[in-house]
Amino acid sequence: MTHNEASWAKLDAFSLTFSDDVTKLLMRLLPNRTTTHAKPPPTLDFTPENHDRCLSLRGLMDNGKQVKNDNYAADIASIREARVRIAPYIHETPVLTSKSLDSIASKRLYFKCECFQKGGAFKIRGASNAIFSLSDDQAAKGVLTHNSGNHAAAVALAAKLRGIPAYVVIPKNAPKCKVENVRRYGGQIFWSESTIQSRESITEKVQQETGAILVHPFNNRFTISGQGTISLELLEQVPEIDTIVVPISGGGLISGVTLAAKAINPSIQILAAEPRGADDAAQSKAAGQIVILPETKTIADGLRAFLGDLTWPVVRDLVDEIIVVDDAEIIKAMRMCYEILKIAVEPSGAIGLAAVLSTSFAKVLLQKTATKLVLFFLVEMLISVYFGNLFLND
Ligand SMILES: Cc1ncc(COP(=O)(O)O)c(C=O)c1O
Repeated sequence: MTHNEASWAKLDAFSLTFSDDVTKLLMRLLPNRTTTHAKPPPTLDFTPENHDRCLSLRGLMDNGKQVKNDNYAADIASIREARVRIAPYIHETPVLTSKSLDSIASKRLYFKCECFQKGGAFKIRGASNAIFSLSDDQAAKGVLTHNSGNHAAAVALAAKLRGIPAYVVIPKNAPKCKVENVRRYGGQIFWSESTIQSRESITEKVQQETGAILVHPFNNRFTISGQGTISLELLEQVPEIDTIVVPISGGGLISGVTLAAKAINPSIQILAAEPRGADDAAQSKAAGQIVILPETKTIADGLRAFLGDLTWPVVRDLVDEIIVVDDAEIIKAMRMCYEILKIAVEPSGAIGLAAVLSTSFAKVLLQKTATKLVLFFLVEMLISVYFGNLFLND
């Protein structure tokens, strides 16, 4: 990490202890790390028609080959629209580099630090895109979600910014710190058991009682378009990227990132990083259909959901490889983030680094070096990697 980047990391970490307004001000004061968009967000009515509209990604190329024209949940236009809509409510996050980590990985790595995002994760991008797409009438009754983690906090925060209520159904075994985040942003909590059935029946009951609109954590076109704005930023910050490594759970993040990145640069490789104890996406890709696991067990609490019908087509057609890693590798990567990058990253965010340092990645790399790529990847944090030609800036 350069001296400048080290200062950034310290300042960003420091700013986390302040209110969002102060944090935003600090981010603005630092040039090249954040962009402010003066344009007001366009309004888009959140009607069933446009919500369920299937956007077609025409002419998308994959490694020089035409990908069959298929319908995906978002496209570059909806992602660009999302960027304008959410600009007033999110941070443009920094990309960090570290000479030490480059040397450990023998690659050039770029870390897109969504851990510095408002609410602590990229989720505010999708949540604010969905919530600020609602008409005033639709928004009046508030929004609802069922989630135990970052999306729940993001929905509570975006609803607070919009001035509407947020109802959040959370399983009783959710991590305490994440529940506190929801409370801090004013979300009204309803407890469920940890089973999907309990969560769904309580969500339905709350929806009937309140009339609130459900904002799904990943299986929602507006959520996916919002997450895709990461790629727009990233490819402006590091245009030479050629591979992106993305943590995968329900697949909203990787869908948005992939659809935007491949539309801008069709030759970009997308690798998913998944914990072994919740490797449904890897199993789904192998089976050619969505696989639901009877149970999941991993330290990466944000990565235990299964793919949805809007995210599966993107994973099936456009995600190049899924790298599965053990919890021990995730813990090691978290430690490296803390000790070397000097930032605290949750397990679901550190998995990108774990994947790049794993033996499975080395195998993927062996197959790819022949095609002379420049690699990139994402830890919530997204990370980018160069082969050969290491040009280091510190
Ligand atoms: C920190 C973190 N990273 C990655 C993900 C995966 O996102 P998605 O469910 O869109 O695949 C999540 C989901 O909750 C998360 O909290």
